[in-house]
Amino acid sequence: MELIDGKAIAEAVKQEIAAEVAGIVARGGKRPHLAAILVGHDGGSETYVAAKVKACEVCGFKSTLIRYENDVTEEELLDRVRQLNEDEDIDGFIVQLPLPRHISEQKVIETIDHRKDVDGFHPINVGRMSIGLPCYVSATPNGILELIKRYHIETTGKKCVVLGRSNIVGKPMAMLMMQKAYPGDATVTVCHSRSRDLAKECREADILIAALGQPHFVKADMVKEGAVVIDVGTTRVPSDKTKSGFKLTGDVLFEEVAPKCSYITPVPGGVGPMTIVSLMKNTLLAGKKEIYP
Ligand code: GUN
Repeated sequence: MELIDGKAIAEAVKQEIAAEVAGIVARGGKRPHLAAILVGHDGGSETYVAAKVKACEVCGFKSTLIRYENDVTEEELLDRVRQLNEDEDIDGFIVQLPLPRHISEQKVIETIDHRKDVDGFHPINVGRMSIGLPCYVSATPNGILELIKRYHIETTGKKCVVLGRSNIVGKPMAMLMMQKAYPGDATVTVCHSRSRDLAKECREADILIAALGQPHFVKADMVKEGAVVIDVGTTRVPSDKTKSGFKLTGDVLFEEVAPKCSYITPVPGGVGPMTIVSLMKNTLLAGKKEIYP
């Protein structure tokens, strides 16, 4: 069994990005600028956004954090998004999800100019991704592809099972694993809460990608000997053993599953750090106007 070290790969990619940014700035080019909107004080969102701001620093990007309280109106937020669309100094921006219930996430996503949508959530980017056109690919699936590439994991002709059908992870992941490319060319099955005999589907997987958000859902008897297991779960489970009072917990029962795998990602330190790095890569692409010149 080989552990996939997302943390180490993420650090390496950030150094690659920083070197490229230093070159751009040395040649008189513009330093990429990412803005993030954070509404409210959700613990998970606070942590993720802080990590994104920190990663910008490491990569040599400029970053701007815009905060609102939970009672911000939808119109106020949409107006700020429109301002960012027009702001020539901002290359890309994100609105951290989830948003309070009185705000339509879909409306917000569709108000973002797709050319600055470095999260890859806008329907134009999702549509372009699904037909293999240049676009911003959403960060978690893109981070997983990067891990597969860097570990030279074979995907062609493999049976890949994706657990979960979210717009952010499950659906794009399935699309990317079936694309005519490497990583890709896999035979993909998507399982979800209504799937019949989900355990049997999982047992057939050469590559199992768990993105359900249900701690320790995947047990050893659901995994084939020699499978590649990618754990996207990051549920904050209360714990008296950590300073923060919670423990990030994956969708895979690691201790039990790991011995059966050829490769497996840990939680934390697997997919999580790669998600942030993918956002940095998209921001660099936005700064260079590579996708939408
Ligand atoms: N919430 C959970 N993951 C993400 C992400 O990748 N981007 C944004 N904007 N919000 C999220």
